[in-house]
Amino acid sequence: MESLELNTSGKIVVNGPQTAKGDIYISGSKNAVLPIMAACLLTDEKITLDNVPDLADVSTMIDILESAGKVVDRIEDKLIITSTSLEDFEIPYEPVRKMRASFNVFGPLTIKMKKAKVALPGGCSIGVRPVNFHLEGLKKLGIESKIEHGFALSKFNGAEKEVNISLKFPSVGATEHIITTATLIYGTKTIISNCAMEPEISDLIDFLNAMGADIIGKNTSTITINGVDKLHGLNYRVIPDRIEAGTYAIMGALIGDNLTIHNICYDDLRILFSTFDDIGINYELNKEEKTLKISKIKNNNLNNVILKTEPYPGFPTDLQPQISVLLSLIKGKSTITETIFKSRFNHIDELNRMGANIRLEDNTAIIDGVDKLTGAPIEATDLRASAALLIAGLLAEGETIISNVDHIFRGYEKLEEKLNKMGLKMTYID
Ligand code: UD1
Repeated sequence: MESLELNTSGKIVVNGPQTAKGDIYISGSKNAVLPIMAACLLTDEKITLDNVPDLADVSTMIDILESAGKVVDRIEDKLIITSTSLEDFEIPYEPVRKMRASFNVFGPLTIKMKKAKVALPGGCSIGVRPVNFHLEGLKKLGIESKIEHGFALSKFNGAEKEVNISLKFPSVGATEHIITTATLIYGTKTIISNCAMEPEISDLIDFLNAMGADIIGKNTSTITINGVDKLHGLNYRVIPDRIEAGTYAIMGALIGDNLTIHNICYDDLRILFSTFDDIGINYELNKEEKTLKISKIKNNNLNNVILKTEPYPGFPTDLQPQISVLLSLIKGKSTITETIFKSRFNHIDELNRMGANIRLEDNTAIIDGVDKLTGAPIEATDLRASAALLIAGLLAEGETIISNVDHIFRGYEKLEEKLNKMGLKMTYID
């Protein structure tokens, strides 16, 4: 649910090569907090969320909750969500257009209000992104929906005592949407198989169970939800963002000088570390203290890899553009096959403009390592591509101007401040 087109013209200018040193702290997870916020619609009691990143997507979800009658206050990294009851069951196109995760309020709103009207998300720069798995799952839960004038309209007809939903693909959003919705269907046992198992789903389950839900099967591909009649308020701390952490880890492997990254959750990033091991990248990981110390690779004795993006615990599609930059500087031939969003390769042409040697065959990028990248004017198309191009600009020789870069603020909290703390310089032009 990332990477919608933003009509913005922001540019980042960087001069390379630069070196990243010192300490950096990973923020709360964007992809965990968004479905958790959608689930807040299920209770009228007060919820306080801690470790909430200050990102454009979180502001969009705040707008959605407010348009449904919630009152949301932000105090530093806390969100305090209150209401006495939900007022509106219609969510307009504007917020949903900005962020597909907005659609995850459709099921919870329907259960609370017995009906809902939520704009359907549109197209997106990383490929076709339908919501058919969401709607098919909700239908089994007794939510009848139809599409009219760009909106999904629903009516809750009541669910059977036992509902079995087998997802055709382990979609993250559909898994979260169905779990959340089923939580408050009292008396119904819902069994979802072929679920996605991303850490953000486990965080959502922890959050819902702490609210009084009865959900079994966390971290597995089959999840059972025994619907309860009420969920209560709570204080909850959101997990750290593994994609932000992975992005800075890759940056550290390219331009780090003993860069220390804090709040790293090793388990959530196992696949990235095993990829680093395969390549031959050195790093120091302290699992107890949750820190990673990493320095720039020396371009010898490194191995090529054959990577494939897959649902968790496989290699995350959200780190594919960033790892492409790393692989473009390892001598020999590496490949990355993208299986989640098959056309998520908009960054490749831009990297080639900077001197990389990457060609595409269907959904596989074939990367021939080069010695260096050189600065160039380039264009970002989505959130993670923006991050990849920023890393490329920081390591390339000379000036890089990344246009259409505002996507990056959807996923990287306090970007400029964090870069400055690492001794990195960028200029943002509105
Ligand atoms: C979530 C993440 C996003 C990540 C993606 C895959 C959030 C807010 N976003 O997005 O950062 O890149 O997981 O890890 O958590 N699909 C359908 N029909 C559906 C739903 C999905 O065909 O109803 C397809 C999609 O087009 C895509 C694949 O399934 O090809 C995976 O999508 P999904 O796992 O649902 O990703 P999101 O939840 O949108």
